[in-house]
Amino acid sequence: MKINSIYITIIILVIGLISCKKEQKPTIEKIATNVYQGTAISSEFDDAIDSLISLMTIEEKIGMLHANSMFSSGGVERLGIPELKMVDGPLGIREEISRNSWAPAGWDNDYATYYPAAGSVAATWNPDLSYTFGNSVGQEARARGKDMLLSPAINIIRTPLGGRTYEYFTEDPFLNKKLAVPFIVGIQENDVMACIKHFAANNQETNRGTVDVLMDERTLREIYLPAFEAAITQANAYSVMGAYNKFRGDYLCENDLMLNKILRNEWGFKGVVVSDWAAVHSTVKSLENGLDIEMGTPKSFNEYFLADKLIEAFKLGEISEAEIDKHIKRILNVLFQVKAINGKNRVQGSLATEAHYQDSYNIAAESVVLLKNEKNTLPLNLEGVKSIAVIGNNATKKNALGGFGAGVKTKREVTPLEGLQNRLPENVKINYAEGYLERYSKNENDQKAEVTLHGPLPVNKLDATKLEEAIEAAKNSDMAIIFAGSNRDYETEASDRMNLKLPFAQEELIKKVMEVNPNTIVVMIAGAPFDLQEVEKMTSTLIWSWFNGSEGGNVLADVLLGTINPSGKLPWTMPKNIEDSPAHATNSFPGDETVTYKEGILVGYRWFDTKNIEPLYPFGYGLSYTNFEISDLKTNKETYNINNLIEISFKMKNIGNVAGKEVAQLYVSNPDSKVERATQELKGFKKVFVKSGASEIITITLPVKELAYYSEIKNKWLIEPGKYVLKIGNSSRGNFEEISINIQ
Ligand code: GLC
Repeated sequence: MKINSIYITIIILVIGLISCKKEQKPTIEKIATNVYQGTAISSEFDDAIDSLISLMTIEEKIGMLHANSMFSSGGVERLGIPELKMVDGPLGIREEISRNSWAPAGWDNDYATYYPAAGSVAATWNPDLSYTFGNSVGQEARARGKDMLLSPAINIIRTPLGGRTYEYFTEDPFLNKKLAVPFIVGIQENDVMACIKHFAANNQETNRGTVDVLMDERTLREIYLPAFEAAITQANAYSVMGAYNKFRGDYLCENDLMLNKILRNEWGFKGVVVSDWAAVHSTVKSLENGLDIEMGTPKSFNEYFLADKLIEAFKLGEISEAEIDKHIKRILNVLFQVKAINGKNRVQGSLATEAHYQDSYNIAAESVVLLKNEKNTLPLNLEGVKSIAVIGNNATKKNALGGFGAGVKTKREVTPLEGLQNRLPENVKINYAEGYLERYSKNENDQKAEVTLHGPLPVNKLDATKLEEAIEAAKNSDMAIIFAGSNRDYETEASDRMNLKLPFAQEELIKKVMEVNPNTIVVMIAGAPFDLQEVEKMTSTLIWSWFNGSEGGNVLADVLLGTINPSGKLPWTMPKNIEDSPAHATNSFPGDETVTYKEGILVGYRWFDTKNIEPLYPFGYGLSYTNFEISDLKTNKETYNINNLIEISFKMKNIGNVAGKEVAQLYVSNPDSKVERATQELKGFKKVFVKSGASEIITITLPVKELAYYSEIKNKWLIEPGKYVLKIGNSSRGNFEEISINIQ
């Protein structure tokens, strides 16, 4: 190569390095401070907005209030107002969809990074990784030229059967808000609106389009709103998606209580409310009650409620131009805020880069939950191992696509089998056998389009040949790894599961394989709780993984081989029986025209702990390849007043022989409470890395205000004076260190 071209190459390399440096994540100190605060919508645009509105015709204004394609709402080209471009979803940037139908547009430049599903992010218990996800996927949304990302989905997991459990974070409102805020901040730092969904109380798929959700005010405030409230008041989310269901009699997209009184008047929301697709049921009522943009299903867009019908209503004087202008102002506010209108140096972003695949890897790496490792089989000791049987359809099943809006078209999804092929040494032979078939029964009344009580019905019968192959593989291998669980067809939007049972006769397969080779590890891949009681009895080694993104298979192999020490903790309770779970124990799921959340504030572990029911695996549970000891618990004071910050500090010692990360969890009890309270509530957590043999002093701060309960009598938050017990453990049922304090 000639000298001068070498220089050119070097220069290009250097520029390349600098430019990719530019995309680096925020500086460490930002992440280290763990404080995530979003940027409020600026008032600097007010004059420009008012002058634009003064130039618009009523038809142009109304054109902005509804879809002009499947994933955009109208702009006003002559005034330089672009259409507002939206894109799904919680697992990454969805492929381009046709403008007038649900069909993919068939582009070849919209492949994206497949990120771990929300349950996986929650299992990391690491808000910094949630920020990383938001920042990374925000860059991808910008690279695809979008203004609004329809994510994060932050509904509380009320029933383990929920079809969208994998899309949501957790059953606990505190963990939910601690993960939602950084995620939104990360997205919006890239000049993209986060669109928090589905506001609110959309906690089941069954009859989601019509079900009227009823619950008491305290339950609403303490459980189902906190993440949405923090998303608005701390993360300054710029958009909100109105849910399909009703709440206390009104559809969410025309619900004055939710969209005006709570969202705007109480929380000060200045952004836009977008409907879920075809969730609008009126014209004037929906606008007056707080909706701004109507999205929907394929039909001519002028037939939408906020299109010709609205022009009609305006001409009849049923709605004023001033009212319409209010909504236009909100839309222009957020378009200016994300630099969509004559925006200078708007973030360009990047799509499906190695940096983003690495982000995906880093999140997944902290999400895998070690449920059982009785004989310390893990991490695998390959000494003398010449062959490994890799069994199960889930070893090769891909989960990026599917599930309606949450699917991602990606060029990279490393399956568990590929991960092992990538990571195992050459001299270890892999004997793969599918083991079980993913088959569904022809459910005669399968109305996929409608929302049915349950999703596809699995065929729970093993194929003899597949079983035989699996047994052969296990017999002829030094050890076996079975990949079972669920997938994105079995867990999906628009339907809930029938039960907690493992599908496709996987239990029988595991049993048969164990009979011929007891040296077998079981890996579950799923997005929601399953009944693992039988599996737990059969195997000494049980791992839980997720729909875990583009690098999921590599992460799993790295965990199995010990490159990664697992640090995931369950973000929800794994029940033994569905009847033990609150929504089912109170016989209040799925309801019919209405569903009443009879368990009230006792959602998830709150129910299991307060009712003293043993789960299979508790909320916050997860093992490590090492062990940690918590000691020297102390608080900065003994007595506090309402405006104080409680500082709890303690020592965390790694008493094992490998470094690892542990999640210290703070649960608070109020034994003398005068009102009904859960036995304990999560009020703090911190994930820490500790080297083998080392100790770290950890401090968790807890504002006294977090101890308040919502009084329905006084319609406000109240703090009971008296004794509170603070407990630090590594699970909601771990052996706790505890200390008492007094609140004046
Ligand atoms: C779906 C989902 C919502 C999604 C939207 C667009 O019905 O409920 O989460 O963003 O439609 O795909």
